[in-house]
Amino acid sequence: MKNLLFYGGGNISFAVIKGLIKSGYKKENIFYCDRNTSNQKKLKALKIKNINKTKSVNIDYIILAVKPKDALEAFHEIVNKYNSPKIVSFVAGIKTKKYKQETKLDFSLIRAMPNTSSKFGLGITAIYNLSFNKSHKNNVKNIFNKIGLVIEIDKESKIDVFTGLIGSGPAYFFYLLKSYEKKLSKIFNGDEKKIKKTISYLMMGVGKSIEESNDIDKLIQAVASKKGTTEAGIKSFRLQKLNKSFDKGLDAAIKRSKEISDEY
Ligand SMILES: NC(=O)c1ccc[n+]([C@@H]2O[C@H](COP(=O)([O-])OP(=O)(O)OC[C@H]3O[C@@H](n4cnc5c(N)ncnc54)[C@H](OP(=O)(O)O)[C@@H]3O)[C@@H](O)[C@H]2O)c1
Repeated sequence: MKNLLFYGGGNISFAVIKGLIKSGYKKENIFYCDRNTSNQKKLKALKIKNINKTKSVNIDYIILAVKPKDALEAFHEIVNKYNSPKIVSFVAGIKTKKYKQETKLDFSLIRAMPNTSSKFGLGITAIYNLSFNKSHKNNVKNIFNKIGLVIEIDKESKIDVFTGLIGSGPAYFFYLLKSYEKKLSKIFNGDEKKIKKTISYLMMGVGKSIEESNDIDKLIQAVASKKGTTEAGIKSFRLQKLNKSFDKGLDAAIKRSKEISDEY
């Protein structure tokens, strides 16, 4: 098992680490480095070791998982501290060539864009590789395959699209589900547990149906009967141009992702 160092132990590292542990990845092979005490506590509770409090250990891959604004500083810390590090960058927006321009020191870097569903083994991770050799790239793919689906991308710019669609993706559905939460609250007299369980079963059923069928229009037709409730709901969504609004939201996220990319 490869030794992984999560450089930045915030939201996404926590989700990926949890997913890896769930998949059987040994905690002894996972390390972190984070300056934030609240994130340190969370990882300590998971029994993940702080690299700064660990005797010298051979790290195979360093996962760069800090916010874009902190990424270049953290990158310099890594290349100055580790010999020819193999970096897996989760950082949105910063292109491989930018890191190359930053130092003459030797390193290799692959970009990976996971999402928080990795926590449950249901993640989607896009990978873009420019400098890892085939064997290291395959090792990285194998690691992320343990926590969900891995999609290899052939153009770095597509990572920005992926970030807006899939990296941020879970939040769009959480946002839409707020309407369900409100309506179900009335049925369940505000019982949070029942509300959450009902919504989660609804979403799991949706996922399973898509996995089985692939044809989303047919799935809608299978639920909607003439003059029934579904038809009334869908008709109203169409009238309100819900799809158009949703499309616009996705486009705004993709645009922002590209803007961040252009800032570096
Ligand atoms: N969240 C997601 O769903 C998601 C999905 C895909 C990709 N990403 C990417 O992953 C990266 C991390 O996102 P996140 O949401 O996990 O961020 P986050 O929750 O803010 O976690 C980053 C952590 O790294 C720490 N840190 C920053 N610079 C450091 C340094 N030089 N040394 C040690 N620790 C340092 C931060 O400490 P402070 O709090 O003190 O700054 C923070 O605890 C971002 O670039 C984002 O684009 C995120």
